[in-house]
Amino acid sequence: MRLLIRPGVPEVAEAAADLIEERLRSGLRVLGLATGSTPVPTYTELIRRHRAGRVSFSGVRAFLLDEYIGLPDGHPECYREVIRRDFTAHVDFDDDAVRSPDAWSADPDAAAAEYDAEIRAAGGVDLQVLGIGRDGHIGFNEPGTPLDSRTHVTDLADETVVDNSRFFGGVRDSVPTRALTQGVGTIREARSLLLVVTGAAKATVLANALRGEIAPGCPASVVRDHPDAVVICDEAAAAGLDRTPD
Ligand code: PGA
Repeated sequence: MRLLIRPGVPEVAEAAADLIEERLRSGLRVLGLATGSTPVPTYTELIRRHRAGRVSFSGVRAFLLDEYIGLPDGHPECYREVIRRDFTAHVDFDDDAVRSPDAWSADPDAAAAEYDAEIRAAGGVDLQVLGIGRDGHIGFNEPGTPLDSRTHVTDLADETVVDNSRFFGGVRDSVPTRALTQGVGTIREARSLLLVVTGAAKATVLANALRGEIAPGCPASVVRDHPDAVVICDEAAAAGLDRTPD
């Protein structure tokens, strides 16, 4: 695992966009996307580079990590709308090349299995972008999720519901409590992982993920035993680490 520590959010976004740009140039075909606040500056930087003619997503397929269950189709906070608004509508992705778990299926368990199959049929994810929750989750894999889990239906931890209520006008009861998420095992199968972490609120969990046990108690810890994982964080998020940047 490579750890890159940058001064602040703009430099993290630039470093993350550099990595994605480099992978696009070397033939990346399947990109795993994360929602949440952390990757937004990276996506904004990629949009800027696209407009400058530097990067293209033509022919690239994208798979989202997760999707809420229970929101009306088309709700502005469902993740397939969020990613469109924050990123994919502003670059040259084909709309149907951006995939997400079908949280509106009458049979969410079957939809989960189909999503794994769809990722496999696409040849697997070349590079998966990840954020980390304050409880150590990746995707919606909360602490305790088996490290070999596949895409599945899950309940959100209370801390995650509270954290995500900011996207729902601060109203906790408006946040769905269930989701479909790629499993930790699904995520680990991506050929490369890019974990982006910013802000002092993530300092404790980042230290746990990078210096504690690789175990279900902190799903993000799996970045450490992946053959090609890069963690890019800012100084604020790195505050709990002993400092050994590259
Ligand atoms: P955030 O979410 O980027 O909005 O902090 C990260 C996550 O919950 O995975």
